[in-house]
Amino acid sequence: MSDQPPLPDANSVAFDSKHFRTVLGHFPTGVTVITGMAEGDRPHGFTIGSFTSVSLDPPLVGFLPQTDSETWALMSEAGSFCVNVLSDKQSDLCWKFAKSGTEAGRFDGVEWHAAPSGAPVLERAVAWIDCEVENVYEMGDHYFVLGRVTSLDADADHDGLPPQPLVFYRGTIGGFSAEG
Ligand SMILES: Cc1cc2nc3c(=O)[nH]c(=O)nc-3n(C[C@H](O)[C@H](O)[C@H](O)COP(=O)(O)O)c2cc1C
Repeated sequence: MSDQPPLPDANSVAFDSKHFRTVLGHFPTGVTVITGMAEGDRPHGFTIGSFTSVSLDPPLVGFLPQTDSETWALMSEAGSFCVNVLSDKQSDLCWKFAKSGTEAGRFDGVEWHAAPSGAPVLERAVAWIDCEVENVYEMGDHYFVLGRVTSLDADADHDGLPPQPLVFYRGTIGGFSAEG
């Protein structure tokens, strides 16, 4: 963990956490499953919407897991992770990898192969980004995990069509439609 500036006191704000979540839910995100290996051969993963590109040079990305996430506690040992950007045909994986208490069985019936780091690349994801953990910052009830990108690829051809991402908006998921 690194030193960090103090965060605002939760008691000093004039709104509750439900309102905060509702308003912030109006910002649409893509949907990823971030994967890793624990003890060398046990795949782990969880659904994450807070993925972002951070820097081009050096190539850095980041995401924010809850500090009490079971999955992050297991994955953080490995020092690497792989971001899988889900397609609009993978809504089942979005919910499967998000359900609390199901951590051990999430890969049952899921097809994957190993990225260079060993972390799972989910078959049919529209893109994958393999990373080494550069730093982890504690921020309120989440960590910000900063990753250095070591390898990546996108599926330019999804059954002859451009890949379509899954989008999360106001608590629900759907597809993306390009203008024109
Ligand atoms: C669309 C979507 C996006 C999510 N994004 C995040 C996120 O950015 N950070 C996070 O901590 N949890 C996020 N979650 C919830 C986690 O997937 C869930 O809390 C986690 O899988 C619980 O299991 P764990 O304790 O094994 O981590 C998201 C869930 C969904 C459905």
